[in-house]
Amino acid sequence: MPPVRTEDEWIDYNQYRQQLQAAWLRLSDVDPPLNPRLIGEPGLGKTTLACAAARALRSDVYIFQCTVDTRPEDLVVTPVITGNRKIEYRASSVVSAMIRGGILILDEGNRMPEKAWASLAPLLDGRRYVDSTIAAIRIPAAPDFRMCVTMNDDSSVFDLPGYIQSRLKPKIELLPPPWAIKEEIVALKCPGVDAELLNRMFAELKARAAQQCGDSVRDILSLAQYARKLQHGNFDQPLRKAIEQILTAPGATAAT
Ligand SMILES: Nc1ncnc2c1ncn2[C@@H]1O[C@H](COP(=O)(O)OP(=O)(O)OP(=O)(O)O)[C@@H](O)[C@H]1O
Ligand SMILES: [Mg+2]
Repeated sequence: MPPVRTEDEWIDYNQYRQQLQAAWLRLSDVDPPLNPRLIGEPGLGKTTLACAAARALRSDVYIFQCTVDTRPEDLVVTPVITGNRKIEYRASSVVSAMIRGGILILDEGNRMPEKAWASLAPLLDGRRYVDSTIAAIRIPAAPDFRMCVTMNDDSSVFDLPGYIQSRLKPKIELLPPPWAIKEEIVALKCPGVDAELLNRMFAELKARAAQQCGDSVRDILSLAQYARKLQHGNFDQPLRKAIEQILTAPGATAAT
């Protein structure tokens, strides 16, 4: 699997990027790098932070998207039948990162069942290898290999078993950014939005926050982008229309 090419920038706050990079440091030959867990609400910026922190270390980034259907072998090596009826063994992005010494992001880790996590246990402690039962080989990680896991704290996910939780430390819990940072993020990711529209948008968002609406950073970016498109198309009341179609009505439970 090739590394991912992401240019998505991260504006740091609460020193999250430094915490993540500190966890990956190796201060001596016997000092192991840690496997941090980034936890936070959906759309808060966890994947973006992990990619940006990895890129800042000039490392190749590999992402494995975890799902409820992830099987242990999907994380390691899977057999594929080729055109001339031969069996080829394909390495996962986990193994590609391990061999090439890149940084692996296990994205949405707690969507993955315990059985799949069990196959990663030796990779997450001092052993730093995985076994492929299908290819009957043991694959050691290169010294530069690092990893982190992102996780949502919603209820539609598995609780990780204790022996896996204890290998995924430190736990870096992301809180939503302060308003000034949200404004910086919008300015960076949606350049060209009219200042007047932005002012009205943030006034609405602050009023909604007082009603515990929980709009994520992703929601705010989508709102700014859509309101701008509507304004460009000469819609009446572009902001009102965008709020109606992008954000969850106050009092509604889940973002859809
Ligand atoms: N501090 C930040 N600096 C720059 N961009 C940010 C920041 N926080 C969030 N974003 C932007 O918000 C959007 C959502 O971020 P991202 O996809 O990383 O969130 P997530 O927490 O991984 O979401 P999910 O739980 O759905 O996977 C992206 O467009 C990202 O660029
Ligand atoms: Mg994500």
